[in-house]
Amino acid sequence: MLKDTPLGKHTQIDAGPESSSRRVFIKSYGCQMNVYDAQRMADTLAAEGFTETPTPEDADLIILNTCHIREKAAEKVYSELGRIRQIKARAKRDGRHVTVGVAGCVAQAEGAEIIRRAPLVDLVVGPQSYHRLPDLIARAEKHGAVVDTEFPVEDKFDFLPAPAPERTRARGVTAFVTVQEGCDKFCTFCVVPYTRGAEVSRPAARIVAEVERLAAASVREVTLIGQNVNAYHGVGPDGASWSLARLLYRLADVPGIARLRYTTSHPRDMADDLIAAHGELPTLMPFLHLPVQSGSDRVLAAMNRRHTRDDYLRLVERLKRAQPALALSSDFIVGFPAETEEDFRGTVSLVEQVGYAGAFSFKYSPRPGTPAAAIDQVPENVKVERLAALQSVIDKHQAAFNRSCLGRTLDVLLEKPGRHPGQLTGRSPYLQPVNVTAPSERIGEVLSVQIADLGANSLFGVALGTKDRHFSAEDCSLREHLDIAAAGA
Ligand code: 5AD
Ligand code: SF4
Repeated sequence: MLKDTPLGKHTQIDAGPESSSRRVFIKSYGCQMNVYDAQRMADTLAAEGFTETPTPEDADLIILNTCHIREKAAEKVYSELGRIRQIKARAKRDGRHVTVGVAGCVAQAEGAEIIRRAPLVDLVVGPQSYHRLPDLIARAEKHGAVVDTEFPVEDKFDFLPAPAPERTRARGVTAFVTVQEGCDKFCTFCVVPYTRGAEVSRPAARIVAEVERLAAASVREVTLIGQNVNAYHGVGPDGASWSLARLLYRLADVPGIARLRYTTSHPRDMADDLIAAHGELPTLMPFLHLPVQSGSDRVLAAMNRRHTRDDYLRLVERLKRAQPALALSSDFIVGFPAETEEDFRGTVSLVEQVGYAGAFSFKYSPRPGTPAAAIDQVPENVKVERLAALQSVIDKHQAAFNRSCLGRTLDVLLEKPGRHPGQLTGRSPYLQPVNVTAPSERIGEVLSVQIADLGANSLFGVALGTKDRHFSAEDCSLREHLDIAAAGA
């Protein structure tokens, strides 16, 4: 399962030189897969002459790239459509036609129902059909509403165009690359196997080519994404089935790539070679999102997770033996049907035992058509209480982890200007935002940073130097460039 990103993320796409063309506004909800998909949609539409606008008011085409994982995520789409109805009506009064599309997992799950509930929608397109967008838009504009939620025989990745290097550059020094889609695990709470379908892995050579293209456009960090990413089993150039570990070893050789990550993993698919890669591959960041969902064996069985609490703890132990610097994050569901106080205490004690660097917790949300939706539900007030209690334990561990970084030297990939002049913001290996005083030419570089202070949501550090092979060896001029004082808040 992919980790959620803050809802309502707007995809940033360089407007490019084609600015006389039609404008598209794409808003993405949910996980990183949707962020990646939104970029691929924008690339497809750019090839058709669309440029991106950050405001829906001046768009000719508005696409909501939706998430169906929890009820709240789906409901947000309908309330956003309410706002878009007014934008569309205003544009019509001005003699302008606005086409509205709903993409993503709500589109897949609800299909034509969306048009019934929100007749302003012209186009409903499932995640496997984005390559057909130009054709679907043309059909919708000519003949009225269209719905495409098929799982087509052709592979969309064969048709989605690669963006121009300058578009990739404008998106920054980190990138997501989808390596696998769908899931065969059928956890009883989860819609993904229904909305995204069966597991399919992309061929390794295609992924390598995509990462080489990203690296050539200055991308330094690649996160391989998939709903069950460590189940990856794509065909390799040698005709053999490649594991995720094998793919990671190959990608670590791509010149310019300084960091690799992957998300989201299922504990059952943490193969021996992947665990070993954490010890052997310096490019693979020592931070792993490994959802466990619950610390109670009874609930884990009811969730069809196919592992026990003890299996999970032993796995964490093996990972830490392979890579002692490893830190973990996780996802938890509270108030799963029939979860007792004792089950819940098991989850809290698991958090205490593992000591996560961070974690996401969610109230169980019944999803239509999933097995758990039909079982006895836990009352809402109990869910609310458990969520608050669990989140405070998670927050305590996250704060302790951040404190443990004080005084440590961490590698930081500088990503963008910070909030204050002269400051850059990057990420530690553990995805913590770190602020450093450094000139903007350093964006894209991995610096050694001594952590000097903790903010509410980020760390502050002093740059010590570069260890980045990609940049001029010893980089002796760095100290002259850097204000060695600790970057203040
Ligand atoms: N209710 C609540 N949380 C859910 N998740 C997935 N399905 C549900 C649901 N029906 C959570 C899981 C998953 C994360 C992305 O979302 O914890 O790992
Ligand atoms: Fe959903 Fe379970 Fe598959 Fe993750 S592993 S996508 S939670 S069914």
